[in-house]
Amino acid sequence: MIEQGDFPFLINMYDINSIRKDFPILSRTVHDKPLVYLDNAATTQKPLCVLDAMRDEYLNVNANVHRGIHWMSQQATDLHEAARETVRKFINARSTAEVVFTRGTTESLNLVASSFVEGFMKPGDEVLVSNVEHHSNIVPWQILAHRRGIVLKVIPVSDEGVLDMEAYSRLLTDKTKLVSVAHVSNVLGTINPVREIIKQAHERGIPVMLDGAQSVPHFKVDVQDLDCEFMAFSGHKVYGPTGIGILYGKEEWLDKLPPYQGGGEMIETVSFSGTTFECPPLKFEAGTPDYVATHGLGTAIDYVTKLGIENIQRHEQELTRYAIRQMRAIPDIRFFGISNSADAPETEDHDAVVSFLVGDIHPMDLGTLLDQLGIAVRTGHHCAQPLMERFGIPGTVRASFALYNTKEEIDKLVAGIQRVVKMF
Ligand code: ALA
Repeated sequence: MIEQGDFPFLINMYDINSIRKDFPILSRTVHDKPLVYLDNAATTQKPLCVLDAMRDEYLNVNANVHRGIHWMSQQATDLHEAARETVRKFINARSTAEVVFTRGTTESLNLVASSFVEGFMKPGDEVLVSNVEHHSNIVPWQILAHRRGIVLKVIPVSDEGVLDMEAYSRLLTDKTKLVSVAHVSNVLGTINPVREIIKQAHERGIPVMLDGAQSVPHFKVDVQDLDCEFMAFSGHKVYGPTGIGILYGKEEWLDKLPPYQGGGEMIETVSFSGTTFECPPLKFEAGTPDYVATHGLGTAIDYVTKLGIENIQRHEQELTRYAIRQMRAIPDIRFFGISNSADAPETEDHDAVVSFLVGDIHPMDLGTLLDQLGIAVRTGHHCAQPLMERFGIPGTVRASFALYNTKEEIDKLVAGIQRVVKMF
């Protein structure tokens, strides 16, 4: 990892005041207070360059992609395919054939669930997920368990939010056909030991799917280095538009996976006697894609790349550690996925999220009162009800950080929580 001391110019490159100017929404007020936006794990704000790129495409280039020989269609196709190449480079896929555009992480997970079960599983075969999964990596499998008789097994999580790797080893059996786990927990911010998960699965010839929704925006995710078979992430969590996401799949797997949806674009020939399909990635891209959003996503990734994902990671880790240190002073605070001991060592296995409760204040009350102070956090079960059940709580308050947040904003959060505590 690059050390700042070795490259002092990196400090200057990360000019937070100038970065914040790229996101005009951050300067607005809410309830007459300056906005403090700490709900970035739910969605990030968009830099002007993304909004400009999308507006410009609608204003000057708009035409359907892969379908026209006319100039505008070819321009739009070039922008769309350039975005695919940008994504390929960002996650280090081998080729653009491995980069499928979807509507988001949820659709990517549903795609793999549906096609994988159809192509490679029979009743009684097992899929392994973990107790920290988002609903989008639980419910698609449950629907298929009901429809196709597959079995869902769950890797347990400790009180500290760490996956039980001994249990994982035991759960891997000849019946396991796929392991599908979150790279980073959206509730806890814990970085799961995915290298070890992948290693053990591969020793048994089992492919692995990663939910990268909460990892790709925060640190370098290199799919070749990780050697996962599939990986999903969302555009809107990485400063791009909503409604666009990525499914990465190793080409050998995308080749043999049956299609997900049928329609235009994904076919080679169609007749009433039968249809042949395009090669990946188009095989999984039925219908007109959101080609303006793909251009927006490509622009967002260019923006992130220009700042440097390592610089973003360093900035966010500094913020996270600062937040934890400052918040430990709040009486009766209870963290989830972070040690509650005041002298606990700072951990590297944690990322950009702080989930907590204070005394017996209901998370909704705390979140609502913070909102009155202009501070946006997420409260509730965070689409991870089985994890809430595991911890025996109705929900948490979650502050989540992005490349544009500041220590001053964390100070406002801490002061806000202290103020609410006094009210109770
Ligand atoms: N999955 C998003 C979150 O964790 C919406 O908030």
